[in-house]
Amino acid sequence: MASVQLVEDKVLTTEEIKDLQQKVRDLARQKNAVILAHYYQRPEVQDVADFVGDSLDLSRKAANTDADIIVFCGVRFMCETAKILSPRKKVLHPNPESGCPMADMVSAQQVRKLRTEHPDAEFVAYINTTADVKAEVDLCVTSANAPKIISKLESKKIVFLPDQALGNWIAKQVQDKEFVIWKGFCPPHFEFTAREVQALKERYPDAKLAVHPECHPKVIELADFVGSTSQIIRYATTVDSKRVIVITEVGLKYTLQKKNPDKEYIFPETMNYCGTVYCCTMKGITLPKVYETLKEEINEVTLPPDLIERARRPIERMLRLS
Ligand code: 13P
Ligand code: SF4
Repeated sequence: MASVQLVEDKVLTTEEIKDLQQKVRDLARQKNAVILAHYYQRPEVQDVADFVGDSLDLSRKAANTDADIIVFCGVRFMCETAKILSPRKKVLHPNPESGCPMADMVSAQQVRKLRTEHPDAEFVAYINTTADVKAEVDLCVTSANAPKIISKLESKKIVFLPDQALGNWIAKQVQDKEFVIWKGFCPPHFEFTAREVQALKERYPDAKLAVHPECHPKVIELADFVGSTSQIIRYATTVDSKRVIVITEVGLKYTLQKKNPDKEYIFPETMNYCGTVYCCTMKGITLPKVYETLKEEINEVTLPPDLIERARRPIERMLRLS
């Protein structure tokens, strides 16, 4: 019997996984579909994708694809971004219940109210926001480009939302601007503690430490490197150290091991709000769901045309500036 992997409440054998992946690939070819996946996706989902990337890479891919169908293996805001950038394509989300808790921590109404309180500020939203919120802001950023883009803005005052950790990290690097930062957070990242990261450093004194900027500022302070998932992959697979402690969602371990199996990647084992060490909504996308969704062309992402129009402006501005 070959090795097994857990898929929902069913265990699929390696052969079953391979068989399903082949069916997905065949369907994708027949239907001219592209499968995009974020690095936090399950290994068997990453392996069936045409492209795996961070939020910035994935939005670029979604904007430039000539496929008729985009199957987006990620959370809802990523699918919405794909729809906004490619409104004439059919965008399918294999699990419509997979949202991002951080994105839901700020609403369009709250942004409109903030606008009245800070009329002189430029409003910058992390890409991890709903389409409704994007429609209210001036610019979007991802963790891969935020400090670089924001430092180029003329405005002296920035309202940043919704991630307080990313906002604080940007503000530390862009010191000539005043920041008003919303108090949202990513539950899986924000729950890693400086104490446990310090303990990992003491246990592996030869290791380098790479941290995602959604982590708590006290964790970020300990890091040798801070960056988006793609940037962490580049750093961790090439840095001159055999061991790297990586503080982000554990899905990244799969890519790291594939890209450079000679290194050891150490991830924390913090249980988060859903009692797991991973982002449970990211892992809500499973291979059988990808297959069903593409076969039946179900779970289509739809947004009103006027919302697409308004939400597209801050994303396209980001793509131009980055
Ligand atoms: P990046 O892959 O852009 O670093 O984003 C991380 C994330 O939390 C996506 O939900
Ligand atoms: Fe949202 Fe955090 Fe999960 Fe990313 S890792 S989808 S920011 S909850």
